[in-house]
Order: sequence, then C-alpha cells, then structure tokens
Amino acid sequence: MKHLIDIHPLSPQDIWHIFHTAAEIKRAPLKFRNALSGKTLGMIFQKASTRTRVSFEVGIYQLGGIGLYLSANDLQIGRGEPISDTARVLSRYLDGIMARVFDHQQLIDLASFGSIPVINGLSDLSHPCQALADYFTIWEKKGSLERLKVAYVGDGNNMAHSLLEAAAKLGIHFASANPSAYRMKDDIVSAARGEAEKTGAQITLTQDPVEAVKDADIVYTDVWASMGQESESEKRRMAFRGFQVSRELMNHASPDCRFMHCLPAHREEEVTGEVLESDRSIVFDQAENRLHVQKAIMLLLMQNQ
Ligand code: CP
Ligand code: NVA
Repeated sequence: MKHLIDIHPLSPQDIWHIFHTAAEIKRAPLKFRNALSGKTLGMIFQKASTRTRVSFEVGIYQLGGIGLYLSANDLQIGRGEPISDTARVLSRYLDGIMARVFDHQQLIDLASFGSIPVINGLSDLSHPCQALADYFTIWEKKGSLERLKVAYVGDGNNMAHSLLEAAAKLGIHFASANPSAYRMKDDIVSAARGEAEKTGAQITLTQDPVEAVKDADIVYTDVWASMGQESESEKRRMAFRGFQVSRELMNHASPDCRFMHCLPAHREEEVTGEVLESDRSIVFDQAENRLHVQKAIMLLLMQNQ
C-alpha cells in the first residue's frame, strides 16, 4: 500500500490492517504520539471541509507531525501551474499529501508525478477515508462484519462508490437504491461484482428503497447534491422524491438497524431530522472514527518516508 486513492487496489488484508491499527491507536493514542515525529503532511483543498480538514490536521499533530493546510486557491495550481510540477515540487518538501479535489485524475497525477504517498480526501469519484471509517464504525458497533447487509439509499455518488467497493472487499452484502438517472458508475459496479465473487458479498441494485433496506443492518444515505452540483439542487430534489430515509423506511430494516450518514446532512431532504437524531443514528461515531482511522492510514503510509 503506497497511496490511498481508492479502495479498489487494497486487499481485504490491507483493510483489516488499517482497522486493527486504528483500534490500537484509538485504545492507546499516547503510544503513537511520536510515531510520525518530524513528518509533514500537506493538505490540499479545492472544496470546503469540516471533518476531513480537522481530523487530518489534528491527527497528524497527535502523531507528532505537522499538517499544512493548502487552499487550492492560494496555491499556484489555482493559477494554472500543472499538477505534474506541483507534485514534483511538493515531494521535495513533504512526507505525504492529502488532497480533496473535483477531478479524480488529479489524485492519480499527484501520485504518479510525485514520490510521496497521496491520500484521497474526497474526489468527485470516491471518498475512501470516509468509507473505511464507516466500516470500522460498523465493526465496532456490531462486533463483526460477517453476514451484514448495508443498504445505501440515494445518489450513486462518490460516497456510494467507496462504500460499495469496500463492502465487496469485506464480504458485506450491499444493496443500493438509486433513481435510474443517478446510478453508480458501471465500471465501479462491475469491478465490485468481480471482488464480490471472491468474498461472497451479494450486490443488489434497485430503484426501490424499500427493497434495498429490507432486513438491512445499516441504512446509509448522503446528500442529493454533492459539492459542485449546487446548481442542480432543485432538479435533484424532484428526482430523489421517494428516496428520503424516514422512520417508515427504517421500519423495513432489521429491528436493530443503525442509521449512517457521512455528514454534512440536509435534514428533511435525504433524511428526516427524526431519524438523524434518533437512537439508531451513529453519525457522530462515524465522524469521530475519521480521526482514528486516518491516523492509522497516515502511520502506515508515512512511517517509512
Ligand atoms: N464527511 C466529510 O468528508 O465531511 P467534510 O466535508 O466536512 O470533510
Ligand atoms: N457526496 C458529498 C460528500 C461530502 C462529504 C459531496 O461530495 O459533497
């Protein structure tokens, strides 16, 4: 594991290694306080962020290193300097780069032109750090990931892609309900189906939220209009009518089903305030685990830099 740009290249063993390391860091954080002493993580942001920015910055400090917040607007990439040059220059100063970008290809270019680990802090295509923190949270809550069913209801977006990829790797059944115009990308679905054949995960794609959440252990949703899609909000609100996670929809899931959302959430759009604030909701545990899981990711990628 040299970078964390997507879940797909990771083996199930890599994912479990991240989870066991994160569990140890969460249990005894002080043991790791000098683990990345003297290392610097550059954090490039082309989009807004609360959780990713703060958890990476606090995380690298807690490991003994330094985090540099680099707004894309202030870097020369905002004025047209190529990613290939940026990658080679930053590799001379930093020990790792975390980047939140629109175009996923920019992460691949950072990794291929640079010589240091690159971590995807969200792109239009995927959000692997969030998905890893989410399955770590499910593992904590349920005690095991075996024979679980995760239902995703809503937009077939970056979040859905990473959740699907990780479920397929981990042997978790994954059902996704999306309006037909907002399905996940075909190549990601077929790659996940290939992985699922090896792990026994069942993948169900439907346009019916009730079918997706039937007997699910987890119901997950995300916003209907992601960052960069704000101008489509109204059109999307119409298309996603019937895809709101409500108490009625949750009633079709398993009796001890938990509700998850990567946040930020839009109450009364993709989820009712009632479900988000209910005892079934574990959204703030998910948010906390971003910190522990990303510390594990930074440690595993940057300790030998
Ligand atoms: N879930 C998530 O990535 O949140 P931010 O956009 O606040 O980083
Ligand atoms: N799909 C959302 C996730 C935010 C964490 C977005 O890309 O805006």
